[in-house]
Amino acid sequence: MNTPPPAIDFARIPRERLPALLRTMPKAELHIHVEGSLEPEMTFRLAARNGVAVPYAGVEQLRAAYDFADLQSFLDLYYAGAAVLRTEQDFFDLAWAYLERAAADNVLRAEIFFDPQTHTARGVPVGAVIQGLHHACRRAHQEWGLDADLILCFLRHLSEDEAFATLEQALPWRHHFIGVGLDSSERGHPPEKFARVFARCRELGLHVVAHAGEEGPAAYVRSALDVLKAERIDHGVRCLEDPTLVTRLAAERVPLTVCPLSNVKLRVFQDMAAHTLPALLQAGLCVTVNSDDPSYFGGYVVDNFLKLFEAHPALDAAAAYRLARNGFEAAFADEARKAGWIARLDEAFAGAARRPLTCSRSLPRAAWTLALNETTMRSSSPSYGSAWCASHEGKTTSWPGRGATSTDGGCR
Ligand code: HPA
Ligand code: ZN
Repeated sequence: MNTPPPAIDFARIPRERLPALLRTMPKAELHIHVEGSLEPEMTFRLAARNGVAVPYAGVEQLRAAYDFADLQSFLDLYYAGAAVLRTEQDFFDLAWAYLERAAADNVLRAEIFFDPQTHTARGVPVGAVIQGLHHACRRAHQEWGLDADLILCFLRHLSEDEAFATLEQALPWRHHFIGVGLDSSERGHPPEKFARVFARCRELGLHVVAHAGEEGPAAYVRSALDVLKAERIDHGVRCLEDPTLVTRLAAERVPLTVCPLSNVKLRVFQDMAAHTLPALLQAGLCVTVNSDDPSYFGGYVVDNFLKLFEAHPALDAAAAYRLARNGFEAAFADEARKAGWIARLDEAFAGAARRPLTCSRSLPRAAWTLALNETTMRSSSPSYGSAWCASHEGKTTSWPGRGATSTDGGCR
């Protein structure tokens, strides 16, 4: 998929119109752990349904605990939180809630990670996990045309033998996942620890991705490519420490699934302004924007775009287009589907560029704040419907429960 971008005059899309465009442009999300989309409200609902104790007094107390020093401190809470997930229905509900959010963010393609070992260790059958998630993906496609598939991740703090056993258990549902990944504690668990199981997965025709270069060194990115033959690198931000590696990633067009809010929450970067995503783009890498664990890190994929662009004034409409297009190019889908998604992306940007530079209903000065506030409103909304605003790229969003209607990005 190397067709050059169409002749869109990105300069005609001023920065103040970016929040609305970032929100409504078609997107792919390629790095989302479904267990990391478990919102505290659902934690308590499932805990009550399944008779599981939660060691927090309520939603607010649980959310207040989401203050992480590093990857491990997050993982400890993330694995503990997953204990409320027990039945196929729980996994359906979890994935469905994520997919509803993704649809609202105009995600056309989602490739969703899940961690079977987190659940089988508690006696949950792997079939319950996979079937629940799969049925949600299938329904999202039927209802909204949102194309979603699953990627099974091995926990790298466990042994390769345990990964092999997990693969064996999951194989009866082979047709319900498209690939395998490698996640959990990175430091001290290099990709080469899983060389044999990934070789077996490749023989089975599975796609292969791996987390590398998040907290671990650039050398782990190299071994994910050379030993595991990873087709994409999840995170990969530490590649910048090795200029030869950067050259290789650019030349081979290896996608990096970068997760800005995650990197700030887990202190890979001290704040969003220090995030190196613009440098990665500048180096010609196939960078994509994703949410990782949206419930824990403060936002879904649109929030990641908004916060990133807010903190980096040099990122413009051309960068937004490039990032979204990279997502579709990096997706595990046939060329015809990719071309269809990219055509919709082109249409969104061409439409935005055709509009007059000044608009009688132009965005308020505080466009970014407004956009971010609306994201928060939506995240606390139990149900919503949405429609496209014909004269602007803004998406009209209504909250039936509140009887209110608002329009994204100030397009009122
Ligand atoms: N890194 C590694 N493992 C994970 C992550 C992450 O950001 N999220 C869930 N499992
Ligand atoms: Zn991740």
